[in-house]
Amino acid sequence: MEKNSTQNRVDQIMPKLSLEEKASLCSGRDDWSTKPLERLDVPWIWLSDGPHGLRRAPFTNTSGYGDQLPATCFPTASALAATWDLDLIYKVGQALGEECQALDVNVLLGPGVNIKRSVLGGRNFEFFSEDPVLSGELGAAFINGVQSQGVGTSLKHFVANNVETMRMFANSNLDTRTLHEIYLTPFEIAVKKSQPWTIMACYNRVQGVYGTQSPGLLTDVLKNDWGFEGIVISDWFAVVDRVEGVKAGMHIEMPGVGTVNDSLIVEAVKIGILDENVLDNLVREILTIVLKAKSLEKDGADQNIEGHHAFARQVAAESATLLKNENGILPLSKDKYKKVAIIGEFAANPRFQGNGSSEVKPTKLDNILDILKNEYGNEIEITYAQGYNLTNDHDYSLIGDAKIAAAGADIAVVFAGLPLHYESEGIDRTHIDLPPSHNKLISEIAGVQKNTVVVLTNGSAVAMPWVNEVDGILETWLAGQAGAGGILDVLFGKVNPSGKLAETFPVKLEDTPAFLNFPAEQGEVLYGERIFVGYRYYDKKKTEPLFPFGYGLSYTTFEFDNISVSASDFTDVEGVTVSLTVKNTGFVKGKEVVQLYISDKECSLSRPEKELKRFTKVELEPNEKTTISFKLEARDFSFFDSRRKMWIAESGDFTLAFGSSSRDIRQAVDVTLNSTQKVPLTFDEFTFFREYWENKQTREILKTLVPAWINNFVPEGKTLDEAQFNAFLIDQPMVKFPYITKGEISFEQVNELVKKSSEITFTP
Ligand code: BGC
Repeated sequence: MEKNSTQNRVDQIMPKLSLEEKASLCSGRDDWSTKPLERLDVPWIWLSDGPHGLRRAPFTNTSGYGDQLPATCFPTASALAATWDLDLIYKVGQALGEECQALDVNVLLGPGVNIKRSVLGGRNFEFFSEDPVLSGELGAAFINGVQSQGVGTSLKHFVANNVETMRMFANSNLDTRTLHEIYLTPFEIAVKKSQPWTIMACYNRVQGVYGTQSPGLLTDVLKNDWGFEGIVISDWFAVVDRVEGVKAGMHIEMPGVGTVNDSLIVEAVKIGILDENVLDNLVREILTIVLKAKSLEKDGADQNIEGHHAFARQVAAESATLLKNENGILPLSKDKYKKVAIIGEFAANPRFQGNGSSEVKPTKLDNILDILKNEYGNEIEITYAQGYNLTNDHDYSLIGDAKIAAAGADIAVVFAGLPLHYESEGIDRTHIDLPPSHNKLISEIAGVQKNTVVVLTNGSAVAMPWVNEVDGILETWLAGQAGAGGILDVLFGKVNPSGKLAETFPVKLEDTPAFLNFPAEQGEVLYGERIFVGYRYYDKKKTEPLFPFGYGLSYTTFEFDNISVSASDFTDVEGVTVSLTVKNTGFVKGKEVVQLYISDKECSLSRPEKELKRFTKVELEPNEKTTISFKLEARDFSFFDSRRKMWIAESGDFTLAFGSSSRDIRQAVDVTLNSTQKVPLTFDEFTFFREYWENKQTREILKTLVPAWINNFVPEGKTLDEAQFNAFLIDQPMVKFPYITKGEISFEQVNELVKKSSEITFTP
């Protein structure tokens, strides 16, 4: 109904628009809104950051970060990802959508599903994961949640936007297979599962072409291959050549920057270098989204500040990731520890989000000390020491007092991590270390107090030189405005931790996949590690990470059992269902993230040791068990063949493996895929003679085309098939044969061979 009436209005408006008006709709009015057209009653809509809270400026033309309106600051994407909980992320999206409705925002600028290629990426805190499936699924859940409230999203930053250094110029120089398998996949999943109203085109170039003007990405991939129905907006000031952008399918330039580019569009149509139909299509799609957004506005919506604050606490608890718990040091209980020393300024002055365009002005802000006193003050004795100075990383003068507090207590809980300026949009990190004062503090506290727990606050992976010195480590990410309560809920066991790492924690920077190629050289970002990003790299190199992808402890234990498959032999069309029983074998209720990885045992291309394909989070009472099943399809077994520009599921044996982390595989089964796919051979004049000769069908063509020449290589009494070519000949591309054979094989014959071969398909 709604779509039809919107479409009718679009149909009515379109013929009435002048060329100038059409062009004008292709850029923003100001910082945060689209252009209205009063003459034809076309409204404007409000776009605002995102992603983990609303950053609404007082007016649409307030530039920069302005004095924005308070909104709930949820944990940032790294933390959200650590929940691995699609239902929860959907609810976060819903809450964000509600706040947008309450504050008159039509489109929330998020989520970001860029892959964490390097631990150093300055915006890692704003992105979900190093894994494409996890990133895409979380992104889709987030978008579906927001959009369920009649508010749009902007899936960003499309695509291969993985470095902040020179971000408006950098060229993501990556091969096509890697682009599809790693960097496009999260966007593809999100587009197909949630149809975001808008997608934000990136600042950087991808394979040499700016993301805001790439027909290959914006039209071929996004629209034609994936069926994207929304509009593309530019990242702020990402436009370079506006006319090329229109041709490529980039709908709206943001923010509004005067009329220069609108005039260029008009001019381009007038002089015939831009087809007006192309512009019309974009304008039609812009009007569709704008009118839809307007029609879904809710008057008098409630921001639900209290409700969302309480929910943000719950989300923070769900994202907390227990990395170490020796001797059951956690949870804290008043019976075990009567006197608790809280060390570290983050306990009083929390770092709860990242720096840059995602910065939210929180509606309130909890801190550990206050909540601890309010909620546990009657039960335990609390002491506090600042421990470090947040404005001077090398100030060690506060460590002495902290040691006294720690030594005099039953347990020390040290709140350490990365200060705000360590992680930011616009700059990349240069190392993964905590401030020296934090590292020293932790070691020195551990030296005087055998019960030491470290609670980390950081948006992305850090090194932990003291890992063996302390019994407990709780990673709490950037936990949002209600993080303190959530963290305490986990520390005291009110919530059983269930977070799992969505990114690998390396022992040291030198161990990381992009170490040799990050950030860039003269703006050229070489993706030298190719598809081996994150755990794919550590697995292949057999490098031990500090904590692996998918890892996180619980206060209970789980047993994986009874793996079974619907068939051990199946076709790509049938797919296969794999099942597993999970049981809580401990003493408290808890949640486990069950992860399914697939390994290709033998492939014509090099592949990761294993890849995450499915996951789910289950909650179980002690002794309770449940069975989970995943249906796997052809795509789950496929690689992207860049020569053929298609996904290929090759016949062969695969292992389906259930893990509690990527390095803790508990149950596995082997299966055989029989492909029925028909794929083109794609042999051309540059294909080697060897390939033509080894392929049965092309050998026959060669035998009919140049029998006399082949015969030169046939030993006495043998057949053509038994010809023996020397190594020099066999590994030459066909294009060289006319002169290698001194004309015995002609260019015409090579062309004929290529033409005939192009009709051949085969089953991989
Ligand atoms: C960021 C986007 C953000 C936009 C608007 C850009 O600099 O890259 O993520 O949505 O600004 O603030």
